[in-house]
Amino acid sequence: MLEEEMSVKPTRNKKLLDWVEDMTALCKPDRVYWCDGSQEEYDRLCQAMVDDGTFIRLNPELRPNSFLARSDPADVARVEDRTFICAATADEAGPTNNWMAPDEMRAKLAGLFDGCMKGRTLYVIPFSMGPLGSHIAQIGVEISDSPYVAANMRIMTRMGSKVLDVLGEDGDFVPAMHSVGKPLAPGEVDKGWPCNPENRYIVHFPDTREIWSFGSGYGGNALLGKKCFALRIASVMARDEGWLAEHMLILGVKSPTGEKRYVGGAFPSACGKTNFAMLIPPEAYKGWEVTTIGDDIAWIKPGADGRLYAINPEAGYFGVAPGTGVHTNPNAMIACAKNSIFTNVALTDDGDVWWEGMTEKKPAHAIDWKGQDWTPDCGRPAAHPNARFTAPANQAPSIDPDWENPDGVPISAFIFGGRVATNFPLAFQSFDWTHGVYLAATMGSEATAAADGQSGIRRDPMAMLPFCGYNMADYWQHWLDMEDKVGADKLPRIFRVNWFRKDENGKFIWPGFGENMRALEWIIGRCEGTAGAVESPIGFVPRREDLRWDGIVGFDVSRFYQIMAIHKDVARKEAETQDVFFAKFGDRMPKALLDQRTALLKRLEDAPEVWDLPRAEAAQ
Ligand code: OXD
Ligand code: MN
Repeated sequence: MLEEEMSVKPTRNKKLLDWVEDMTALCKPDRVYWCDGSQEEYDRLCQAMVDDGTFIRLNPELRPNSFLARSDPADVARVEDRTFICAATADEAGPTNNWMAPDEMRAKLAGLFDGCMKGRTLYVIPFSMGPLGSHIAQIGVEISDSPYVAANMRIMTRMGSKVLDVLGEDGDFVPAMHSVGKPLAPGEVDKGWPCNPENRYIVHFPDTREIWSFGSGYGGNALLGKKCFALRIASVMARDEGWLAEHMLILGVKSPTGEKRYVGGAFPSACGKTNFAMLIPPEAYKGWEVTTIGDDIAWIKPGADGRLYAINPEAGYFGVAPGTGVHTNPNAMIACAKNSIFTNVALTDDGDVWWEGMTEKKPAHAIDWKGQDWTPDCGRPAAHPNARFTAPANQAPSIDPDWENPDGVPISAFIFGGRVATNFPLAFQSFDWTHGVYLAATMGSEATAAADGQSGIRRDPMAMLPFCGYNMADYWQHWLDMEDKVGADKLPRIFRVNWFRKDENGKFIWPGFGENMRALEWIIGRCEGTAGAVESPIGFVPRREDLRWDGIVGFDVSRFYQIMAIHKDVARKEAETQDVFFAKFGDRMPKALLDQRTALLKRLEDAPEVWDLPRAEAAQ
């Protein structure tokens, strides 16, 4: 009998006790350990990982209480082709998700998990997504054989005994089962990062609200509170209960008059979401403040006054390191200055971390993410493009004082943005809610490094393509239905932005980063009814005079019209190709969105070859 089985359990919750017992019998670990979430426990886990080589302790003077991990080169990103939504029927999962019949998948998982934790410790990791006890929060329990997962979950979620207290004797939770998928023979120790790339399954059972993940120890595949629970399973809960679980940052904007507004922003992976969530307004914006509620996920529910309120279900940032730097995102750099875990970045000679874009000056020598010598001219990147920092949310100087408000913060606007080089203007507003849902449903982006095996541009509705736990057409209908449920006047206004338009030479035209504040101020002004706009075929666009321009750096204001021009043939082609995507959803496709497309094509037919802003301004 296992030692821990004889000791007192930290909960009387029967469902949890039974589940842990069943999973222990299935996985056959050498030990069972219930995480209490304490600092002492975290320190102990990290030290054990330093001792066995999983972690390298960073120089405590440069990066206190922080660690570097190097993954297996075959386990560096989410694996979308191995991610399954096992709803009762393929149709319920929809054409954008992988599906397998639940019984077939259960049989497969039973085989894979049988004995998979031999030689290892089974960690029981109770966690809350959202502030403990918030009516918007939810409890999950992850079982994992990875101490790396346990340590990361302590940063990314509220984790440990306090969650069991909230769960009580008969509270419910989402069970999230995880194994690296590599049992150890007696006396065998890990050589490197354990994983099982040949047998990876990231599985969701939306009907029973369960998660099973096998074979990967990395990020979204293994930290199951994040994409698996807070998006895929939560989107199903949200559908059933009338709320929204979204792949959105949440930020606050305070104007010099003290007026505060919050917005949610959905951008596909690696489109600068964390940077936008931590934006520092430029010099000209004296007295303005941008604060961070969350950088990746928002749970949004109607509040007592009928408006939509959002919480960040996470407690940390799992940010993409490359491109995050002292100039691009000083808030994130301070957030990960201590108490952080770094994965697949480079190790400098003085025991600190480095990655591409962190500082302008490259170190003369480092050890790269694969553990090899690296020099600036060696022809290889020092960090993997999807290298990450795991940092506590409250370490960002930009953290909003209300970030743990259990009731959430009221949302004034939803902003949707992809990474597209052509045609889409810097910012525009939808005509109404239905048009806004259409703009969000048709957004697209160029490939990113956050997921394996992508190329070219892909449509990424609401930035939820890899994260929606049910048929995307039903998800769009759920969004459309919010208008009746919440009321048009109470709903946030909807905007599209595009920071990534390129010129004839392939260079970004818009400077981005802090300068995005100019578009954000316009968006806030539209919500308040103070900012102007003109109508274009694709929505309301700001005139040049509607944006503040003083002190702009890296942008010649005469080029504003270039990033606002709408080329009819490009826009038409874009709208025409939407039918291929929409057709995948067959009869489930909401008619309202098809009608929006037809109406857009009609507006474009009547538009000039190039719809340009000066002409619209002159016509006013
Ligand atoms: C993420 C992602 O890790 O979107 O946040 O891939
Ligand atoms: Mn994300």
